[in-house]
Amino acid sequence: MSANLQNATTIEAMIRAGADMLSASQSPRLDARVLAKFTLGCDDAALIARARDAADSAAKERFGNLILRRASGEPIAYITGEKEFWGMPFRVTRDVLIPRGDSECLVEAARDHVDARAPARILDLGTGSGCLLCALLSELPQASGLGVDVSPGAVAVARENAATLGLSARADFVVSNWFENVNGEFDIIIANAPYIPDGDRPGLIVDVSDYEPSLALFAGGDGLDAYRRIFEAVSGYLAQSGAFVLEYGDPVQGRELRAMAAANIPGAELSVIRDLAARERGLAVRKQPGKRD
Ligand SMILES: C[S@@+](CC[C@H](N)C(=O)[O-])C[C@H]1O[C@@H](n2cnc3c(N)ncnc32)[C@H](O)[C@@H]1O
Repeated sequence: MSANLQNATTIEAMIRAGADMLSASQSPRLDARVLAKFTLGCDDAALIARARDAADSAAKERFGNLILRRASGEPIAYITGEKEFWGMPFRVTRDVLIPRGDSECLVEAARDHVDARAPARILDLGTGSGCLLCALLSELPQASGLGVDVSPGAVAVARENAATLGLSARADFVVSNWFENVNGEFDIIIANAPYIPDGDRPGLIVDVSDYEPSLALFAGGDGLDAYRRIFEAVSGYLAQSGAFVLEYGDPVQGRELRAMAAANIPGAELSVIRDLAARERGLAVRKQPGKRD
């Protein structure tokens, strides 16, 4: 524990000392506040209200340990075991990728491909925490879905998240190497498959490279090995009016993926998905242009 933290007499001083220990983080003050809330078991309002309360040594000890974990690069979400996505809380463990806000534009695009009143069937490939499937099910009350992941640990976390969010009755999860244990046709197939080129590992921040599962990140020399395998089979699992919605990393990958889509699903309608900053984030592939259920 740093001397400043040891000497901190109030919650506010404790947070300040914690932030000072996180100088390498991009958001030291925010990180320290989140860890203080987690330590004290309180929300934002209570933290503000308690700013001048005395910081007892047990709390400082617990807080100091969390700060040290964050200082060594461990992401906040793995420390607290939770991350918000689509306005809903998701439990996360080291078995799953931490849901990214950027992926929310995928959910929007997928949602807009189906009629919310229809009993749409959704397949989430590489479900991880289950965030994409759960977000879609929360938007489409008549829909049901299947989330698959090759990682049994991820499937267990996704199943738990669906249960906590009250979505279990409409969400199944199975361990599967892409389509291996999947049957039937789907109106929406959504995938945030791994897409980081293997060679990019040294350039990643420690928070990602040392903590998030490699299985969730890397996919061969150009990062497209996972999508190559998925595209070989995806057409057979898409309903005639169905759409395949996928996330990728950059416009070069986008060009490759559009070519893969055109080759594997001839005649499909392709639209690029952009995030709020207008950056290219994904692709929507509608199997039969103009047709919607
Ligand atoms: C980028 S993460 C996406 C997780 C989650 N869908 C999200 O958006 O946060 C990719 C996921 O694909 C899974 N995965 C990797 N290879 C797989 C395979 N061969 N079959 C099924 N899932 C796989 C990983 O375990 C990981 O959970």
